[in-house]
Amino acid sequence: MCGITGIITKDDHSIKEDLLKTLKRLEYRGYDSVGFATNDGFFKKSTLPISDFINSVDSDLRSNISISHTRWATHGGVNENNAHPHFDKTQKVFCAHNGIIENFNDLKEELEDEGYSFKTETDSEIITNFFHKGMVKEGKSFEIIAKEFIKKVKGTFAILLIIGDGRLYALKRDSPLALGITEKGFILASDIYSFSNKTDKAIFFGDDEFAIIDKDKYAFFDKDGKNIDKEITSFEWSVEEEKLDEYPHYMIKEIKEQPITSRRLIESLKRDQANRLKEFENLIKDSKRVVFVASGTSYHASLVGVHLLNKQGIESHAVIASEFENFYLVDDKTLILAVSQSGETMDVVTVIKKARKNGAKIASIVNVPYSTIQRHSDTSIEILAGQEVCVASTKAFTNQLIALFSIARSFGYDNNLENIPDRIKETLDINEEIIKELAQKLYEKNDMFILGKGATYPIAREIALKLKEIPYVHAEGMMAGELKHGTIALIEDGTPVFCLVPGKNLEMLSSAKEVESRGAKTIIIGNKEGIEPDILLPESDEKEFSIYSSLIGHLLSYYIGVLRGVNIDKPRNLAKSVTVH
Ligand code: G6P
Repeated sequence: MCGITGIITKDDHSIKEDLLKTLKRLEYRGYDSVGFATNDGFFKKSTLPISDFINSVDSDLRSNISISHTRWATHGGVNENNAHPHFDKTQKVFCAHNGIIENFNDLKEELEDEGYSFKTETDSEIITNFFHKGMVKEGKSFEIIAKEFIKKVKGTFAILLIIGDGRLYALKRDSPLALGITEKGFILASDIYSFSNKTDKAIFFGDDEFAIIDKDKYAFFDKDGKNIDKEITSFEWSVEEEKLDEYPHYMIKEIKEQPITSRRLIESLKRDQANRLKEFENLIKDSKRVVFVASGTSYHASLVGVHLLNKQGIESHAVIASEFENFYLVDDKTLILAVSQSGETMDVVTVIKKARKNGAKIASIVNVPYSTIQRHSDTSIEILAGQEVCVASTKAFTNQLIALFSIARSFGYDNNLENIPDRIKETLDINEEIIKELAQKLYEKNDMFILGKGATYPIAREIALKLKEIPYVHAEGMMAGELKHGTIALIEDGTPVFCLVPGKNLEMLSSAKEVESRGAKTIIIGNKEGIEPDILLPESDEKEFSIYSSLIGHLLSYYIGVLRGVNIDKPRNLAKSVTVH
């Protein structure tokens, strides 16, 4: 799982400025290792952070064909040997691969019988030997070997290949790949954002398609090797590249941006995206049920969506994308509502493709325009949070909730959303110092619990996820009412338990008392002075409270992370977008 990019130009391009700075924009897809190779067989790989790797590359290094890769390890540990690009033992064929070759062991045995050897633990290495055998050893054309590859290989792939013959070769199934058309030649990458500063014209690869790219022309083929015409998409990319400005980390910058980003979405849903909101309304009215599908933080937003729509009498469910086919059936009366910041999460993409085959309609809420999920949707709301750099989602989560509130408003949820940006600001202004002090008291604790109910249950889970992702605290977010059915056994003297108490929610207050009487240190997050909360949020209804209480969780995770000295924006083992199953 990874990000890949390749460039082919009439004149030489800079490896550092052109290839690797494009690759840097794909870092959200993984950052375990990085590497590149050029047409003349020069390569370099490393487990350094991409920025340090780029700094280590000679500014004079140029080539007219190059490929590069940023990795999130699936098969094989994180080390230089397993880093891409991979190559055959004669160092003639180089490949960068995003995806998983599921039957790599069978293919490896076949190639070993032919005398090929392997030196990495990856599934991807078979690609170089497969194409070496077909194209170099047997002298067959790329078209013939690509057809054979597509037929034989099980799994997912976006592949860039160079074999030192002045061409760049590409193949794709499930993992995304686009070709950008520039004045100087062509650029291939996992998404169009990575080359949006170089061109506004792109071709998206379809599944089981492959292409041969020369410096001045390209040809696309389907799985049978038939030449196909591809539509060129002209795209507008208005999202600016993020800069840290005066902030020490993107996470805190992105938390603090929310008064602006939330206002931007609210305005857009009233004007520019009003028609899309209407399309959502119509699709929901025409369906029998709404099934949210998402992963991670976006799944928590989806749970809030279920609560909001069910309260308006619309049958709704939320299913974690990776388990969808084990737990849910879809028919032509189902509206799939995919929620995804990146719009690229592979588990979600798989669900929407299958659901479409069963006749379901697809609506999506995404942050990244032109993303795979958006391109596969009947309609899509863009949440306009701006680029989110920190792996942990904050401002995008808030805007996902605002989009969901707006959809619920079409069905009678009575709330004026105009106050939200100012209330976000108030929440952050009033509480930041309080949270810093709280973080000082809690940062050595290894277990924490967060209790919610109704609209705040998903927030309890979201806060727990943030505490795991950023400061690596073992945290559990749960329904307050379920606590006494097992988890309460874990409460010891001094265990921190956060209770999300909108208004004077008596059931939540009793849950707080139950854990307190067993020694827990409760921290009440509330919005009524009457109950004397430890953390006071602006006045709002219970649903809107979910936004403000999640901000507290985001701030707390950030400040505990700072005290624990972890890599805030790029936590260990994670990627911003998981593009494999
Ligand atoms: C990864 C990230 C999570 C994120 C999830 C879903 O696991 O580490 O922070 O919530 O993907 O991403 P999406 O782009 O679909 O919202």
